[in-house]
Amino acid sequence: MTTMTFISIVALLLLLLLPSTIIIIAFDGDLDSDSDSIISRFQRYLQIDTSHPSPDYQQAADFILSQASSLSLESQTLEFVKGKPLILLKWTGTSPHLPSILLNSHTDVVPVEPHKWSHPPFHAQINSGGNIYARGSQDMKCVGLQYLEAIRNLKNKDSGFQPIRTIYVSFVPDEEIGGHDGAELFAKSKVFHEMNVGIVLDEGLASPEDYYRLFYAERCPMWLVIKATGAPGHGAKLYDNTAMENLMKSIESVRRFRASQFDLVKAGLKAEGEVISVNMAFLKAGTPSPTGFVMNLQPSEAQAGFDIRVPPIADQASLERRIAEEWAPASRNMTFESGQFKQKVSVYDENGKPILTGHDSSNPWWSLLEGAILKANGKVGKPEIFPASTDARYFRLRGIPAIGFSPMANTPILLHDHNEFLNKEEYLKGIEVYVSILKAFASFVEVEKDAATYRDEL
Ligand SMILES: *[C@@H]1O[C@H](CO)[C@@H](O)[C@H](O)[C@H]1NC(C)=O
Ligand SMILES: [Zn+2]
Repeated sequence: MTTMTFISIVALLLLLLLPSTIIIIAFDGDLDSDSDSIISRFQRYLQIDTSHPSPDYQQAADFILSQASSLSLESQTLEFVKGKPLILLKWTGTSPHLPSILLNSHTDVVPVEPHKWSHPPFHAQINSGGNIYARGSQDMKCVGLQYLEAIRNLKNKDSGFQPIRTIYVSFVPDEEIGGHDGAELFAKSKVFHEMNVGIVLDEGLASPEDYYRLFYAERCPMWLVIKATGAPGHGAKLYDNTAMENLMKSIESVRRFRASQFDLVKAGLKAEGEVISVNMAFLKAGTPSPTGFVMNLQPSEAQAGFDIRVPPIADQASLERRIAEEWAPASRNMTFESGQFKQKVSVYDENGKPILTGHDSSNPWWSLLEGAILKANGKVGKPEIFPASTDARYFRLRGIPAIGFSPMANTPILLHDHNEFLNKEEYLKGIEVYVSILKAFASFVEVEKDAATYRDEL
């Protein structure tokens, strides 16, 4: 018996014996095909290789624009830097004078080492457990398309829904390499100013627990290089003040500080984003020889580089004093000048205020967001500071509240890792959560107190 005949007979039996089952199967089939097409759109976006160093921005732009037109959203392509398109979509609200809502996501992803993946990183294969494997499945093509699927949902099924506030959706390039040609220029642009944005949603992180994570700020990077000098000498001689000894004293001091911060995290007293992290990025010393390094010579110079991340709730000035007095003291012939920071981002905005978004009832957007997530049967963890940098900082710098949120609960944190994946069900649930958020945000009107006032308070 051929397989086809077998299937036909089974189908016939089902038809004859179980009419009620057939109805249920048909109904399930409809739901499945709906979620199937949602998932297949996600797969198509994931299959576009937008990894650095040469992201295919054009193909990503074409895909997003085709989605936008299927949703009848207004769209424009902004090119602050040639070859790096930023797609801006718009769903005009019935009260367009009210501050708008901006849903931001980046289209680029970090590079991959394909041979270390169990599934090809740009095929978006789904395993039997429903996990979708692809670079960008967590960071953050999921969020970008979930925004659009939520809009599709609101436009189709809930045909009565009309946003009061205008909703913008931005797809920006280059976040993974600092966002300078993307979100940074966008946030400073005339176009952005005219959008009159009242709240930005941007990326967060996956949560291995059953609750979602919300981020109200992020740590600011300070990349520090310290340099020691000392008299060179024979490798067999014990004498004071060598470059290596001077640098080692600094490294010991940095290590003690690092441990004290890490202990706070380990003891559960502070979250990862709330402490200053310091990690040594490089050590550079020694006198090169054709076979490695000269071994019987103590060098006259030694350097070390550190990646430091400072939360806006920490005292950045006192950290800089510590660097000058303990980590790179002139008294030990160490050099450190502020110019030696390879990168230094201030924790303060143009008005000297720490760059953070209100994360309690003082910020109605925060309360609305929490409420909307709960309404969609999601749970919310304690407000957090994002441990690394995202594009959200460029919006916060302009005094606009920005909340980091990627709806991925019960998911291991795999951004930038091999075998990055997101489960299909979790992805679909995230869309429901955004539907709930958009309903709450776009319907929010509070006449006497609006974004301008909140900005002053932040
Ligand atoms: C610093 O350098 C000076 C000049 O080379 C030297 O005399 C002094 O001993 C050094 N001090 C330390 C702590 O390395
Ligand atoms: Zn990201």
